[in-house]
Formats: sequence, structure tokens, C-alpha cells
Amino acid sequence: MTSLEIALIRRSFARAFMAKANIAKCFYADLFLRAPDLRRIFPREMGPQQDKLNDMIATLVRESHRGESLSGPLRNMAIRHVAYGARPEHFPFLRDALVHALRTQIPGGLVQAEVEAWIAGFDWVAGQMIPAMEAELAERRSAAIIGSDRVPYFSR
Ligand code: HEM
Repeated sequence: MTSLEIALIRRSFARAFMAKANIAKCFYADLFLRAPDLRRIFPREMGPQQDKLNDMIATLVRESHRGESLSGPLRNMAIRHVAYGARPEHFPFLRDALVHALRTQIPGGLVQAEVEAWIAGFDWVAGQMIPAMEAELAERRSAAIIGSDRVPYFSR
């Protein structure tokens, strides 16, 4: 991410912070309209999940100048996400829902340069998470194949 993108994200996030905007609440409401099938993989009670996502966004914004320290935690989080049922193809829905939530929840909305900076930030996060998810999915598939080979062998 460029230092200009980081500055634009921070400037707009400061407006959200001052207004105590619940970005995650709007984000999930919009996400479930865009991708209704995703609703069933989340808990019924979304309050705690909204808090976790709001905290995560705040952490990412705060640490955005130290990308290398975020990579490991993001990759670990991506691996947990495979067990939740999240998949790489879900990311575009999240990106659109995030832009919608920021535009509507941040007082004054976003100027185009801020929208582009948030998209660059989201794409950077996705670029950390997706390869880790794909590696985890490949490992699970090969474990399943080895497992299915073993069944006839041991039952002989
Ligand atoms: C591929 C798209 C994604 C899907 C479908 C998805 C879905 C989920 C689900 C189902 C949970 C578990 C809820 C529960 O059972 O309590 C969860 C947890 C969480 N998600 Fe996501 N998620 C996605 C991407 C992201 C991204 C991009 C972020 C932030 C950068 C994020 C942040 C979190 C956090 C902080 C938690 C709390 C638990 C944990 O850290 O593992 N998720 N997500």
C-alpha cells in the first residue's frame, strides 16, 4: 500500500471513529443481501461478530503502515476461516459490502480517492488471506484423498 492510500484510509476512518459508526453492522446487513447463502455460516446473534469485525478493521487501519506484522495474523485468520466455510470466491461480495458500509456510515461519505484507497487496502488483505486459504483447502483435499485410499486398504 502507498503512504497516500494509508493516509486516505486513516483520514476517513477518523471520521467514522468520531461518529462511533458501526461499520460492521451495516457491512453484514449488506453482505447478506448480496450473498444470502452466507447468512447460514454465521451465528444467529451477530452482535459479538460485529464487535470482532469492527475491532479488526480498527487494528488493520492502525497497523496499516506495518504490513509485515499483519501478514502472519491474517494468514492464521484465513486458515480458521476455511473451517467457518469461507472461500476465496466470497471476497468480491465482502469488498462491495465494505465500500457500501463505509460510504453510508462515515459522515460525509467518501470521496473517490478514499474509496480507491479502501479498495486497495481490502485487496491487500485479500492478497494475504486468499493464498493461505487456498493452501489450507489443498491440504484438506489431499488429506481427504489419502484418507479415501486408506479405507479399502485397511478393510481388505
Ligand atoms: C471470504 C470471506 C469471509 C467470510 C465468508 C467470513 C466469514 C466468517 C465467519 C463465518 C466467521 C465465524 C463466525 C462465528 O462462528 O463466530 C468469521 C469470523 C471472523 N471474521 Fe470473517 N469472513 C470472511 C473474511 C473476513 C475478512 C476479510 C476479515 C477481516 C479482515 C474477517 C474478520 C473476521 C474476524 C475478526 C472473525 C472473528 C474470529 C476469528 O478471528 O477467526 N473475515 N468470518
